[in-house]
Amino acid sequence: MSNPKPFGVNELREMFLSFFESKGHLRLPSFSLIPQNDASLLLINSGMAPMKPWFTGEQEPPRRRVTTCQKCIRTGDIENIGKTARHGTYFEMLGNFSFGDYFKREAITWCWEFLTSPEWVGLDPNRLYPSIYQDDDEAFEIWNKEIGIPAERIFRFGKADNFWEHGSGPCGPCSEVYYDRGEEYGCGKPGCTVGCDCDRYMEVWNNVFSQFNNDGEGHYTELIQKNIDTGMGLERLACVCQNVNSLFDTDTVMNITNKVSEITGAHYGQSESRDVSLRIITDHIRSATMMICDGVLPSNEGRGYVLRRLLRRAARHGKLLGVNDPFLYRVCDTVIEVNATAYPDLVEKQSYITKVIRVEEENFAKTIDSGLKIFSDMLAQHKAKGETVFSGEDAFKLYDTYGFPIDLTSEMAQDEGLTVDEAGFRAFMEEQKVRARKAREALGDLGWAGIEFGKELPETEFVGYDHNTIDDAKVLAMVVENVQAEEMMSGVEGIVVLDRTPFYAEMGGQVGDHGTITLGEAVFTVHDVQKNKGGKYMHYGKITGGVLKVGDTVTAAIDVERRQAIMRAHSATHLLDAALKKVLGDHVHQAGSLVEPDRIRFDFTHFEGISAEELAQVDKLVNDAILNGYPVITEVLPIEEAKKKGAVAMFGEKYGDVVRVVEMGDFSMEFCGGTHLDNTAKVGTFRIKSEGSVASGVRRIEATVGKLTLETMNHNQQLIFQAAQILKTNPADLVAKLEQQVADLKAARQAIEQYKSKEAAGEADRILFGAHDVGPLKVITATVPDADGNRLRQMGDAIKDKAANVVAVLAAVNGGKITFVAACGKEAVGLGIKAGDIIKQVSAIAGGSGGGKPDSAMGGGKDPLMVDNALAMVDNVVSMKLGL
Ligand code: ALA
Repeated sequence: MSNPKPFGVNELREMFLSFFESKGHLRLPSFSLIPQNDASLLLINSGMAPMKPWFTGEQEPPRRRVTTCQKCIRTGDIENIGKTARHGTYFEMLGNFSFGDYFKREAITWCWEFLTSPEWVGLDPNRLYPSIYQDDDEAFEIWNKEIGIPAERIFRFGKADNFWEHGSGPCGPCSEVYYDRGEEYGCGKPGCTVGCDCDRYMEVWNNVFSQFNNDGEGHYTELIQKNIDTGMGLERLACVCQNVNSLFDTDTVMNITNKVSEITGAHYGQSESRDVSLRIITDHIRSATMMICDGVLPSNEGRGYVLRRLLRRAARHGKLLGVNDPFLYRVCDTVIEVNATAYPDLVEKQSYITKVIRVEEENFAKTIDSGLKIFSDMLAQHKAKGETVFSGEDAFKLYDTYGFPIDLTSEMAQDEGLTVDEAGFRAFMEEQKVRARKAREALGDLGWAGIEFGKELPETEFVGYDHNTIDDAKVLAMVVENVQAEEMMSGVEGIVVLDRTPFYAEMGGQVGDHGTITLGEAVFTVHDVQKNKGGKYMHYGKITGGVLKVGDTVTAAIDVERRQAIMRAHSATHLLDAALKKVLGDHVHQAGSLVEPDRIRFDFTHFEGISAEELAQVDKLVNDAILNGYPVITEVLPIEEAKKKGAVAMFGEKYGDVVRVVEMGDFSMEFCGGTHLDNTAKVGTFRIKSEGSVASGVRRIEATVGKLTLETMNHNQQLIFQAAQILKTNPADLVAKLEQQVADLKAARQAIEQYKSKEAAGEADRILFGAHDVGPLKVITATVPDADGNRLRQMGDAIKDKAANVVAVLAAVNGGKITFVAACGKEAVGLGIKAGDIIKQVSAIAGGSGGGKPDSAMGGGKDPLMVDNALAMVDNVVSMKLGL
């Protein structure tokens, strides 16, 4: 048996794609890792995943034969990554696809030709073994009779091995090709052959005869066309060709590991645990770089969470290798370098990708040490109790407070011989999600926008770039009370679909237009417009005064003033985006926007706070751009040309071959389908209202333009005039006048306080004058008109400070409620008289209660008629206490 030629990863990719081009296939670039319109999938995990509608016949493919090298992520096996040499979360899948064109014969023949022909990969045919689905005799015949493989070298396997499906969607029986890597890779067990779990027979190519559709619940239906879906792991093929042990030893991947070694000082072969860490870091940084390039940002949900888990797990393994500073962002340069030829956008977004990774590393670095400490404490507690399960609650705490993803905790617990109660963890997560869901519930669902109705009808033609009103639109379809209808009667709410429309449907953040659709008496008032899956513009509204029927020719007119205000906001949004990039840097990317009449909400990537000066600079740049009156020019261009011109595209957005570019002088150039002013001067005014953080690495600016800013400014102006009028001054002197008033008020309050305490002292003197002797003490009882509790207490204090031998009980009646205060001088207290005791007895007589300290106490009562009786008993209480 001969050895293969050691082709490189980049070389093999190119060979595969050009081989299938030579067989009439259209070469397409890899689709984004983010699935478009496929809720069943978080991340693209195979070559066919982005092409499902072409397999089912739902959409027309650009050609019946297509070939791609697709970026894929599979995280199902994440805990095995690094521990074995075979697993990786990121890989590239080479594929050739037929949509109702060729079938088994061509697929098998070309597969064999590519693998064995000396002009192509040139593998030794004696090392290759096909497998087929157990009763697929047709495939057997092709392998056996046409390719010439002896029957005993063709293996028949059951559904588990040779029926390919991945979640819902197109699937079918398959035929795989195995490569025998040689005895040295084998397990040596008797019966070790194709299909054995060991590393000797490696599956390289999978030809799926895709002829069924799985609805996700296990129901299969025959597809209208027979398809071919093939997949070959690029890195696996490279392993075979380069005759190396694992995907981590292939040329491009090795470069990345070498970089990790250079930074960490750890090298392969030093110890098993170091090898594991090196492989985890290498694998995870590859996935992370590719995901960020496609627009994923680290977060606690969905794709963002997958990314966060990968980065944090890699960061911890860096720590295990002794690196305490962020370092992954340095490794990503190598990932970009080795992938630059196949994925040039990596180079374009290099500084952005680096920044995202660095910020995530820095954020995690802030909590990782305290998290690790808490983890050890928790671990010690579990161990002390003799437990072998790390509780879900603790795992959740580590997640929630320290940002430790569950697999990180699991891995660390595993290293210590414990398992994690993942079900318990999920229960806590679920609880948290329910809380979040409740908060979201108000948002409602997609409704009709998610339904493709009127499939047979053409897409709506949007004419609103050039027209505000058209009078020859045709009604193509209607929805009344959630069912499609032929006509709509007065008073009814529903949806109208036209063949052409000047109404803009909500898209790219810009809200839909308002307006009317009329025919004679019938006026359908539009309050929202949404585009559905099938490209129809759905006008939502209510009809009054007549009837609309499918087939009617109607006048469609938008609310021009409102649209004008929306255009002001949209054009200003572009100016804001450009200004932010100029002031903060090129890492700023639009992360979301809402464009309403004269109102903007703009979310963008930025990783630290924005200073008041920066904000002022942004504000000034935008307003200068408005005053400069740049002409706004829109053009439709081939995408490559648009990119070359330097137009800014949205991250993660899928564009067609031609794009619309909106240019504002040399200030801004963006891909955009929205409606715009013809000159920036018409924005009129721009004012930032707020700025803040909305998620990690994402900030939000809210601003107003045009008339709304003017209204606010007018309103503020009015307030100033009113305030000046009240203060009897003019606006220019308003602040000085106000400062003066505040100072005057303060002085007046101080004077009143002084007067009050003087007055209380005088009153105390007067009351003291009415004291009478009980033994050696002077007893005072008095009712003080118009006093509240505070004042009574002040007076009591003044009296006892003036005379050490005084016992005073004061009362005040306010609205039927009595307040008592008792105060005893030092000498009286020395003789055993307690204000608290006195007040208890006095209050009780007036139907209340009270208490306090020996020198001062307070109480209340409810019966005003008893006040005198209550006060009259004070003498008795005192003389009894003195033993008189
Ligand atoms: N879709 C098939 C796979 O992923 C080719 O293996």
